[in-house]
Amino acid sequence: MATPWTPDSWRSKPIIQVPEYPDPAVLADVEGKLSTYPPLVFAGEARDLKKRLAAVAAGDAFLLQGGDCAESFAEHRADNIRDFLRVFLQMAVVLTYAGSMPVVKIGRIAGQFAKPRSSDIEKKGDVTLPSYRGDIINGAEFTPEARMPDPQRQLEAYRQSAATLNLLRAFTMGGYADLERVHQWTLGFVSDSPQGQRFREIADRISETIGFMRACGITSENTPQLKSTTIYTSHEALLLGYEEAFTRLDSTSGEFYATSGHMVWIGDRTRQPDHAHVEYCRGIRNPIGIKCGPSLEPDTLIRLLDILNPKEEAGRITLICRNGSDKVEKSLPRLIRAVEKAGRNVVWSCDPMHGNTITSASNYKTRPFERVLREVDLFFAIHQGEGTRAGGVHVEMTGQNVTECTGGAGAISDADLSDRYHTHCDPRLNADQSLELAFLMAERIKQERSEKAEAGISRSAAE
Ligand code: PEP
Ligand code: CO
Repeated sequence: MATPWTPDSWRSKPIIQVPEYPDPAVLADVEGKLSTYPPLVFAGEARDLKKRLAAVAAGDAFLLQGGDCAESFAEHRADNIRDFLRVFLQMAVVLTYAGSMPVVKIGRIAGQFAKPRSSDIEKKGDVTLPSYRGDIINGAEFTPEARMPDPQRQLEAYRQSAATLNLLRAFTMGGYADLERVHQWTLGFVSDSPQGQRFREIADRISETIGFMRACGITSENTPQLKSTTIYTSHEALLLGYEEAFTRLDSTSGEFYATSGHMVWIGDRTRQPDHAHVEYCRGIRNPIGIKCGPSLEPDTLIRLLDILNPKEEAGRITLICRNGSDKVEKSLPRLIRAVEKAGRNVVWSCDPMHGNTITSASNYKTRPFERVLREVDLFFAIHQGEGTRAGGVHVEMTGQNVTECTGGAGAISDADLSDRYHTHCDPRLNADQSLELAFLMAERIKQERSEKAEAGISRSAAE
């Protein structure tokens, strides 16, 4: 692509999944204001994340990305953020312990507000209204007033993102993530479940190890790695006017970064190589995710890699594969082979949520947990068969005790969905299901490592 990139060069490209704002002057005014506001993240942090993702691609770390499908203004409470963090840290501990390697933690948080929709309109009886597109754009209530896109919402999304990120930084740096507290992360309603029990066993072993290290003089007072951790933020770069306002020139490198979050991704519906979303992302230097659904052709993927990562920078691209448990065996190997053949360096991550959405008999949008587990399982098996690395997972989850996905150890049934179905968009794994998934991945990672070790032993024996 020969044309020069600028933060607003996306504006001259075709674009889909955008709201129609009633008054462009009000929108321009809001975007102007946002462009003067302090950035949410610093370019150096995005560079650090890229380095850590390069380690994932090299097989030296594992990626855990997760959070709400859509954050909501109404549910912006400290306990929701804390409870998400508790489960997320538990998942990370389970994976770190299993793989004996670092887990790169990225939340779908502090900016995950804009949603692509399968239809521009929603009909109820005789009434047709614009679809809900996320709290940064319009309201979820089915009224003409709520559904009218309102630019002022972007200011509220910024305020909420800043407050959420501030609390996350406080928790993760201020002692909440201290490994000495590993037992305290379990949420009350999980503690008696089989996952709670399994977690306690790992937590006991970690406490024992920490006790041993303390006896050797290594404590969280003198070793910051035990006391604090880093959680990066990410969201879909969908609302490009907002993203442009936070695209800032980094004085250290002289390059542009999205400062609305550490990593952004391009959705499965907006990844056309000649469209606006790809154009925007090609010029920012953050790590970029690309959602890869079953309709993605291998040569289009290679074209996207050429556009988005022409210099083959390690850690720049994460391919977030979301095929569905019934399609992954057909879709994924073709992509892996094309990427391998082209010799491209990527992180392969599995989103087992978006290809496994169904409508239940009771008319709820849900995801059967066994399909989620099956897609992750197949993802690992396919990579093993191709000789490539299953680098991470991308999930929609919450720390709340919701009933949105069926199945799991709590055996949530179709009839249970209505009990605590709170999501504003897609159904999320609850804390119990999230932990169960982490344990499954832990098994696979352990298996991978022992097979690798065995292959190493037999290779050196043959030499
Ligand atoms: C999402 O991640 O919430 C989403 C809409 O995903 P996809 O673009 O893969 O459908
Ligand atoms: Co979603």
